[in-house]
Amino acid sequence: MLHPAGEQAEGLATLFWVMAAAGVVIWCVVMGAAIYAVLGKKRPRSERFADRFIFFGGVAFPTVTLAALLVFGLALLPNWAGGDEPDMRVHVTGEQFWWRFAYKGPSGERIETANELHLPVGANVEFVLDSTDVIHSFWIPALGGKMDLIPGRTNVLRLKPTKAGVYRGVCAEFCGPSHAFMAFPAIVHPVADFQSWLEAEALPANPAGSEAFIAAGCGGCHTVRGVSEAGSVGPDLTHLARRRTLAAGTMPMTRQALEDWIAAPSHIKPGARMPDFAALDDEQRDAIVQFLLGLQ
Ligand code: CUA
Repeated sequence: MLHPAGEQAEGLATLFWVMAAAGVVIWCVVMGAAIYAVLGKKRPRSERFADRFIFFGGVAFPTVTLAALLVFGLALLPNWAGGDEPDMRVHVTGEQFWWRFAYKGPSGERIETANELHLPVGANVEFVLDSTDVIHSFWIPALGGKMDLIPGRTNVLRLKPTKAGVYRGVCAEFCGPSHAFMAFPAIVHPVADFQSWLEAEALPANPAGSEAFIAAGCGGCHTVRGVSEAGSVGPDLTHLARRRTLAAGTMPMTRQALEDWIAAPSHIKPGARMPDFAALDDEQRDAIVQFLLGLQ
């Protein structure tokens, strides 16, 4: 959060540094006064001087300083929700323990993805936040935030990324045993790159080799657009292999990680709702992993 890459995070970083600097200056003054009181030469003072000293040093100075810092801090408060129409909206749903992200596609359709956020640089983005189970909190420290996702309530958060790059997003509210494994990369693209990402994301999946995936019942929970669209409990896997991480930022997206995950999700993420598929034979598991790796 002290290396801001977004407008809201810049305000927070400025506030932190100004508060820290003011705190250091005041601490030095108070320590100087304390040292003087203990070690300084004692001269008799008039009662009038003592009263004035206490009034200015103990009442006027703290009141003026704290009021000035308060006004400065309030002026930096970002406008989380209001203002003009945003450039785009992303619908974020917190799930135990992953992130459902939904975008508006090139022809206005809803495109669902999971655990990897893509944004265009310079855009004023409105996040529409809710949860299906418990309270989570959406936080990308480099961009700003954070904001809770609360079941039965919709919150909004505005963020404006100012620098392209890859930043870490996390869940910032304890939500169960795998709260610490509920992260996601937030990728801020130049505008043209974001458009091509969105267009590719809107395409249906490559169906090659989907038989094993269907036969094992994976489609009961997961949607792969163009292959199996009934499942909505787990993350949408349509372009899974394009993502950098698996299991919400827990592991890099590799063949080995996919094999380990399918065999025993609960060993990797305690409390994950996906059941273990340890009973699959090698051939079935390899076929599923091959299909998933083809979901570019
Ligand atoms: Cu979700 Cu912590």
